[in-house]
Amino acid sequence: MKRSKITIVGAGNVGAACANWLVFKELGDVVLVDIPEVGDKTKGKALDLAQCGPVDRFDAKVVGTTDYAETAGSDVVVITAGLPRKPGMSRDDLVQTNVKIVASVTKQAAEASPNAVLLIVSNPLDAMVHTARKISGFPTQRIVGQAGCLDIARFRTFIAMEIGCSVEDIDALLMGGHGDDMVPLPRYTSVAGIPVTQLVGSDRLKAIIDRTKMGGGEIVKLMGTSAYYAPAAGTIQMVEAMVKDKKRILPCAAYCDKEYGVGGCFVGVPAILGKGGVERVIEVELDANERKLFEASVAHVKELCALADKFLQAG
Ligand code: LAC
Repeated sequence: MKRSKITIVGAGNVGAACANWLVFKELGDVVLVDIPEVGDKTKGKALDLAQCGPVDRFDAKVVGTTDYAETAGSDVVVITAGLPRKPGMSRDDLVQTNVKIVASVTKQAAEASPNAVLLIVSNPLDAMVHTARKISGFPTQRIVGQAGCLDIARFRTFIAMEIGCSVEDIDALLMGGHGDDMVPLPRYTSVAGIPVTQLVGSDRLKAIIDRTKMGGGEIVKLMGTSAYYAPAAGTIQMVEAMVKDKKRILPCAAYCDKEYGVGGCFVGVPAILGKGGVERVIEVELDANERKLFEASVAHVKELCALADKFLQAG
């Protein structure tokens, strides 16, 4: 079987953590690409990682480069490039800077790998997925954003901490944009098949939902920069679903037109992920309150996309 080729654009904290898990899980050969300004660091990181192979006995080529020619023919391109948050910043504050970075790297990566799936991780997430689509012109099935896997991981972590049970036994759903108005859905959250509402009181559940929504900011405050282990873990979950054609149902920033009445925008929804990218958006029933929250989050995402377009046009 031909090995998958996975390019990671941006060899910073998130990109390097992604590369790390990709090779340890033997999901394919990895190309780490970053700008010349970071010097030989990218090559160094790739070489360092490649030298884990003999210890952990994985076979994966790892290349560090500034040249997109080396990324040619990738099956999946993960875009992590862009500035992370500093304390006091919201994800939205990054739009002006990151839209230009994401546009520039998307253009180069898409030209080198015209058949790849683009998996966007840069923030503000939903607007950056929109930008990647605009620049690449790829079909919407081959453009997807990672946010929900991370946000749900936070939600599941906090529920498990509250109950004192294994994180493995929590299944949850969360929709909307990757902002403080994301919509965790306790009605679709269960613990070993038991509705979470039977095990966690409504006040505590509300506190957990609020902590989940602010989960990224909590880490920025502690570390002085954005999270990277869990964002990378969420990304790898999606890459694995695609390169192994697993058809997993994962929360993705996927293109929705008629779906949920979104009207043409990338936003967090459950979707089937396989070799071709987003194979189908799953529509779940939302009650009036859930729908109201989701619609507010979609409206916010649309505003951010318009802002991204404006900054991109201004050059
Ligand atoms: C977070 C950033 C990476 O939620 O968006 O931690």
